[in-house]
Amino acid sequence: MQTRIGTSVTEVAYLLSIGELVAIPTETVYGLAANALDEKAVQSIFRVKNRPVFNPLIVHVKDAEQFSKYASEVPAICLKLAKAFSPGPITFVLPKRNVIPDHTTGGGNSVALRIPHHPLTLELLNQLHFPLAAPSANPSGYISPVSAQHVFDQLAGKIPYILDGGDCPVGIESTVITFEKEKVVVLRLGGLGIEDIERVAGKVALQINQSSNPSSPGQLKSHYAPKTPFLLGDAAKLISENKEKKIGLICFGDVEIQNSAIYKSINLSSKGDTYEAASKVFHAMREMDAAGLDLIIATLIPENGLGAAANDRLERAAAEK
Ligand code: TXA
Ligand code: MG
Repeated sequence: MQTRIGTSVTEVAYLLSIGELVAIPTETVYGLAANALDEKAVQSIFRVKNRPVFNPLIVHVKDAEQFSKYASEVPAICLKLAKAFSPGPITFVLPKRNVIPDHTTGGGNSVALRIPHHPLTLELLNQLHFPLAAPSANPSGYISPVSAQHVFDQLAGKIPYILDGGDCPVGIESTVITFEKEKVVVLRLGGLGIEDIERVAGKVALQINQSSNPSSPGQLKSHYAPKTPFLLGDAAKLISENKEKKIGLICFGDVEIQNSAIYKSINLSSKGDTYEAASKVFHAMREMDAAGLDLIIATLIPENGLGAAANDRLERAAAEK
């Protein structure tokens, strides 16, 4: 199959309506989209990504009025958060209605709903009569794509069309939350900072990093991983222990590490901005992975803003496979 890259929303709407898969831009990462209500189309997402069938997909909708079509209960706090942050990098896990096929939710009885903040994709959702199931458009376990070219590099030949919306400005996936009574429980750190959520919803609980029987089954420990060996920690120490190797260094802030073993170095934000760092972290991993290195070394960044979410992606990249 030939894969085209283009900007025709009408063509994408047609392809989706006949059950095809299309890559779509969002503010976070590119998604691999299909009609969320079409079991067969959804099954091809799992096939193309080589994704475990128990890992549920996020369902993308055009506005918060759609939530009650697909979820049987929508708490007031959910609508309040949606009003504050949607369209935007937040996903709400709610009890599902039967119109959502079991395949879409990995067999579970909850559905993840999100309103993506991208003009092309919102225009697309407005043309469609169904919501879009879309996981990140990467093979399962690899780095999420933040440009149309990244999608092409890995899915060319497997899907007919990539809707090109430029580089994704947030650059890491949405924050996934659910509700226990009216309290917010965070299942995945992501593009909306915890402080922002807490300003609207009060103190949240964190339920992340659960790899055995996880309540958010995508949260397996090793994820987002480059193919090149990847170490995370004290850069100076790790470099001195690996001097004989060709090293790529991913760093942050006002640092200067000089060593002849460093073949390539990327600063996620020289001015120390965690939002900028988050927007660059997947770009940096890909660039390093393409540079023919023996080893990538990265340092953790401060936890404020999107720092904790960016660190989560670095930790998963470094986790043993
Ligand atoms: O920013 C994003 O969220 C991107 C763009 C394309 O929207 N999508 C994305 O999808 O990151 P994916 O499939 O790569 O990650 C979805 C995450 C997984 O960790 C999955 O386990 C969790 O959301 N999730 C989805 N449905 C869930 C559910 N019903 N209950 C708990 N967790 C769920
Ligand atoms: Mg993903």
